[in-house]
Amino acid sequence: MTALLEIRRLTKKFGGLTAVDAIDLTINEGEIHGVIGPNGAGKTTLFSLVSGALKPTSGEVVFLGQSITNVPAHRITDQGLARTFQRSAVYHGFSVLENVLISMHTDVDTSVWKALFNFGPTYPKDQIARAEEILDFVGLSGFRDHPAENLALGHQRSLGIAIALATGPRLLMLDEPSSWDERAGSS
Ligand SMILES: Nc1ncnc2c1ncn2[C@@H]1O[C@H](COP(=O)(O)OP(=O)(O)OP(=O)(O)O)[C@@H](O)[C@H]1O
Ligand SMILES: [Mg+2]
Repeated sequence: MTALLEIRRLTKKFGGLTAVDAIDLTINEGEIHGVIGPNGAGKTTLFSLVSGALKPTSGEVVFLGQSITNVPAHRITDQGLARTFQRSAVYHGFSVLENVLISMHTDVDTSVWKALFNFGPTYPKDQIARAEEILDFVGLSGFRDHPAENLALGHQRSLGIAIALATGPRLLMLDEPSSWDERAGSS
């Protein structure tokens, strides 16, 4: 069986500081892993290396049998690997539901006529239903039409998980999903 994710000797140096030091890790389908360590241990850096936000100094990341070591982040997401951010990351100026819809990466009707008459993009019914299902799953159904940036920090975090789920991931990496103190949210 091909592992979902294989990390080999993954290393990241920031100048003289080695944030991630020769990590080996194999994750198979259906498994849940926790990454624990004190502040500054390198957890977020590890996630950023795997998701393509940072380039490793050395080592390799293999997802579903294919190297994704130097693949751009958006293509890694397309391949089915999603992550959430320790700092809240939602799309401002859009509703909670729209935040999920935008993240689904499917064709959207944005015809000139609709734009001219100031209608936003329209989404197919099944896509809206799927987005509502995801909002229900993360407990945000009651905030469906609220502007995302007005949500309390804890709810923005849940929306971050909904956004990641909307991409249809095979593997989901959650960076401190249950911490919503001001420091984690704004540092
Ligand atoms: N972009 C960067 N440039 C320079 N140093 C960095 C950068 N990102 C992280 N570091 C350093 O790398 C080390 C690991 O940081 P990282 O954020 O990965 O830790 P963490 O385990 O996620 O910590 P926390 O529990 O506080 O979230 C820290 O010493 C940090 O200061
Ligand atoms: Mg971190």
